[in-house]
Amino acid sequence: MAAVGDIGIDLGSSNIIIHMRGRGIVRNEPALLAYDQSIDKVLFYGADAYRLVGREPSHIQVYRPLQNGVIQDYRMLTSMLHHIVQEVVGRRVVNRPRAVMAVSAMANELEKRQLIIGMFDAGARRTQLIDRPLAAALGALPVLKDPYGRLVADIGGATTDIAVIAGGQIASRTIIQAAGDTFTDAIIRYVRLKHNLLIGFRTAEDIKCAIGTVYPLGDASLSLPVAGRNLISGLPKQIEIFRDEVAEAMEEALRQLIEGLHGVIERIPPELANDVFENGILLTGGGAMLKGLQEAISEEMQIRCITADRPQECVALGCGYAVEHLAELMELTGENRRKGT
Ligand SMILES: Nc1ncnc2c1ncn2[C@@H]1O[C@H](COP(=O)(O)OP(=O)(O)OP(=O)(O)O)[C@@H](O)[C@H]1O
Ligand SMILES: [Mg+2]
Repeated sequence: MAAVGDIGIDLGSSNIIIHMRGRGIVRNEPALLAYDQSIDKVLFYGADAYRLVGREPSHIQVYRPLQNGVIQDYRMLTSMLHHIVQEVVGRRVVNRPRAVMAVSAMANELEKRQLIIGMFDAGARRTQLIDRPLAAALGALPVLKDPYGRLVADIGGATTDIAVIAGGQIASRTIIQAAGDTFTDAIIRYVRLKHNLLIGFRTAEDIKCAIGTVYPLGDASLSLPVAGRNLISGLPKQIEIFRDEVAEAMEEALRQLIEGLHGVIERIPPELANDVFENGILLTGGGAMLKGLQEAISEEMQIRCITADRPQECVALGCGYAVEHLAELMELTGENRRKGT
């Protein structure tokens, strides 16, 4: 039986989000840490490390331990997990919580094992891994045995996980590289080419979230002051960037995402394709918060597209739901429970 304190965890390339039974979402932090090579010590985790991005002194490195769903540095990853999970569950010897963690399709068996061990060291009694799009679907629509085929696209920072889910199981799934960061990178490129201005990742993220849209919505003349380095003079410079420029910058990234979705839908078995056309596409993940994305995909693909409530939290919420229904879930997926030790 699930207990108060059991956790659901979405370990993403961009953010680590934790749901705790009885308390809801208790953490949503950038999945980063800042490491000081000169003293071999991690200085900051999460939001504190994010503040250093683009301003780190030479002896400090900001790590993203997970990239494109693949573990880049196991030591850094376990250090981050340990820190963030312990903050949430405390240092317990007895009554340690159970955990459900969502993993990307890119994770191999060794990485999965490493994640389970890392979670045990971080304080979880036992960790069950589930597929990310299944967790996303459960977070948006908490019904395990929903018999209808649904297409879920979990648009993260680095990757978009796409799956058709029917009856609590994954009927087909794939992963594409076009996701939230593709739009951010496109803004950096555009500002460099059009304004000869070099801007950092955080600045481009701020532009995207504040005025970015991929579909004509609201006031096109909205603008934002943007500071960077002039590539010709080498000096700091500020310009004004307009919403329609940001939209132009992101056109190609939108095309890549839509092409990726298209490729997946073309390969859906015919008996499920009908369900997908009827139920539409469910968008989850932080990338789904991009303004106009739902409208642009619906119009381009001629399929209804719905953004989940609290899209960025769906995977963690789904893990939280799964930890409460673990036995049922395992029966459905036919998997044996993995133990933490
Ligand atoms: N308000 C917003 N508007 C547009 N994009 C947003 C907004 N808020 C967050 N994002 C984008 O969401 C993405 C991160 O989403 P999310 O937290 O789901 O990623 P992740 O799960 O850590 O990554 P991945 O699933 O690739 O491992 C980033 O690209 C970020 O820019
Ligand atoms: Mg994610």
